[in-house]
Amino acid sequence: EAGELADQLGCEAYAVGGFVRDILLGRPNLDLDLVVEGDGIDFAKKFASRVGGRVKAHSKFKTAVVILDDDQRVDVATARLEYYEYPAALPTVELSSIKMDLYRRDFTVNALALRINPGRYGQLVDFFGAERDIRNKTIRVLHSLSFVEDPTRILRAIRFERRFDFQIGGQTMRLIKNALSLKLFSKLSGTRVMHELQLIMNEEDPLSCMLRMQELGIMEAIHPLLKLTQERIQILTELVKVHNWYKLLYLEPKIVPWKLYILGMTAGVKRDQTTQVTKRLHFTPKEEREFLQLRDMIGEALMKLMGWKEGKSKLSRLYSILHPIPVEGILFLMARSRKEYIRRNISQYLARLRSMAVDVNGKDLMDMGIKPGPVFGQILDKLMVAKIDGRVETREDQLKLAKR
Ligand code: CTP
Repeated sequence: EAGELADQLGCEAYAVGGFVRDILLGRPNLDLDLVVEGDGIDFAKKFASRVGGRVKAHSKFKTAVVILDDDQRVDVATARLEYYEYPAALPTVELSSIKMDLYRRDFTVNALALRINPGRYGQLVDFFGAERDIRNKTIRVLHSLSFVEDPTRILRAIRFERRFDFQIGGQTMRLIKNALSLKLFSKLSGTRVMHELQLIMNEEDPLSCMLRMQELGIMEAIHPLLKLTQERIQILTELVKVHNWYKLLYLEPKIVPWKLYILGMTAGVKRDQTTQVTKRLHFTPKEEREFLQLRDMIGEALMKLMGWKEGKSKLSRLYSILHPIPVEGILFLMARSRKEYIRRNISQYLARLRSMAVDVNGKDLMDMGIKPGPVFGQILDKLMVAKIDGRVETREDQLKLAKR
């Protein structure tokens, strides 16, 4: 459809970037990016009205997003045609603007385009040897100023290298080391670093990216307190295992990977020093507050769990220790617990107790003539504890207990 539209508008359109790269790699990728040599916004609007979808346009950047009815997104960018007028009688030349567009990108593997106009549909446009680099499993920049222009590309290089099991090329690696020795990293804003860290932590194997970062001294370059010690590596290894286990078993609630892994990256850092890290990474006040709170809750729970004995302690006790803690914290506790039975019981908590609810609600309590207020919560908590410990199985039993 997009290709036909391009023909009708008399312009060339291309699929670009990760979408094309992943076709060559045989990996699934649903994010379609288009570049149009023409008016990208006009193209996006006409495309949306053809296939059904909404358009969000950014006229400043001449880009638009088409959100299709099934929530799929198609990004459309404009590559402007540039005409260079030669003096005297020589004709004006039209520079291929897709080439310019691709040249601005980070790595050769991301600088591929695929023609989508019907006559040339599926033709690969590869100006920079990307196909060869994919064959040789190499991450290579397009020019020597790439990391100076944008140091976050260092983290992107690592992320793609580890994701595809590629190698950063020799010259590219020298450019990375050069950029690091120029301390370009310390000039990067916390927001941008944090964004890249989040992307890394959403990867299949975040630990191998973090190890590579450490190898290159990037952890300390972000903040001296973030050096990956042997102890932290061990904790992060456990976190990856627990995280994978959780992803396999539970679709809900979704966890936010960075909350889990930043806990591991800052293990052993004192509370007041932790804020140095959260400030460097430009956490919002809310994120910072919640992160510190999560840290505190974990510390407290670890202490309490030490006193919890299987068979002796009540299950409701486990519930009250764990229930206030967000799931990222629960997973951290699981990873940090040395005792097998604690892990097993935390897993039980996630499977059964976490989502358990009493069979009596506020309306029932009002019907009994109890006035709404804090006492409601207290009664419901008491019922929950009794239910977990198996003292009140049925709704009738719970109503009776509530009356008392
Ligand atoms: N890009 C870049 N420099 C950056 C970020 C992005 O040159 N700092 C370019 C890349 O060439 C990339 C394109 O912008 O192909 C889109 O970026 P993004 O969506 O992050 O890349 P994907 O390759 O789609 O990454 P992923 O597979 O992780 O979604």
